[in-house]
Amino acid sequence: TPGVRPLIAGNWKMNGTLAEAIDLARSVAAAPPQKADLLVCPPFVHLVPVAGALLKTEVALGAQDCHAAGKGAHTGDVSAPMLADLGARYVILGHSERRADHGETDATVRAKAEAALAAKLIPVVCVGESEAERLSGQAESVVATQLAGSLPQGFAAAGGVVAYEPVWAIGTGRTPTEEDIAAMHARIRAELGAEGAGLRILYGGSMKPSNAAGILALPNVDGGLIGGASLKADDFLAIAKAV
Ligand code: G3P
Repeated sequence: TPGVRPLIAGNWKMNGTLAEAIDLARSVAAAPPQKADLLVCPPFVHLVPVAGALLKTEVALGAQDCHAAGKGAHTGDVSAPMLADLGARYVILGHSERRADHGETDATVRAKAEAALAAKLIPVVCVGESEAERLSGQAESVVATQLAGSLPQGFAAAGGVVAYEPVWAIGTGRTPTEEDIAAMHARIRAELGAEGAGLRILYGGSMKPSNAAGILALPNVDGGLIGGASLKADDFLAIAKAV
C-alpha cells in the first residue's frame, strides 16, 4: 500500500528453549536493514531476555496476548502496561488459537485491544474464517463481522495492525489463492472506511520463502504474520527479503 511501511512479524507461539529464543533473536537482528519493519513475538517467559538481545537493534519486540485490565487479581495473566514496561512495542491479539483454546470472543479481543492502545502498544488483531466458512462462501462476511466486533474505535488511526489468517491455512502448508487473499485484504480495508487508508494488513498462514514474494506483492498486503517459518532465522529473513 503506498506510503505504508510493510511489517514482517514472527509469531513464535509456544516454541523453543530460552537459549534458542535468544539465539533466534540475535540471528534476526544481525541481518542488514530490510525494506520492512521486523517484529518477533516470543512466549511471555522469553520476553525479557529477548528484549535484552534486541537492545539497540532495529527489530521490534511483541507479545502474543495481554489481559484487558491494567492490573489486578488475574492469576497467570499479563497486562499491557507490563509488556510496554519491559520494552514490547506490539501485541498479537485474538489469534485463532486463542479464540479456540481460550474461548476469546470478538468482545474479549476488542477489550484487550483497548488496553493495548491505552498502554501505547500496537495491537495486531487477527481475523480469519474457518474452512467450512470459506467453502460455504461466507469468508468475507465472517471476517467483516470479526472486524466490526474486535476493533475498538480509532484503531487504525492509532496505528493498529490487522492480520488476516484463514484458520485452515495455519500450519497446514495450504494457502488461499492469491486472488482470494487480494480480495479479502481489499474487503478488510474497505470495511474500515476512510480510516483504513493507512492500515497495515498482514497475511498469515503457511507463509514461507517460496510463496512470500507472490503474496507480499499483492495489493493491500502490507506484510506477513509468520508462524512456523519464523522459527528459523534464515527462512524468516528470506521472507523479509521478499518484500
Ligand atoms: O500467527 C501466525 C500463524 O498463525 C501462521 O502460522 O505456521 O502457518 O506460518 P504458520
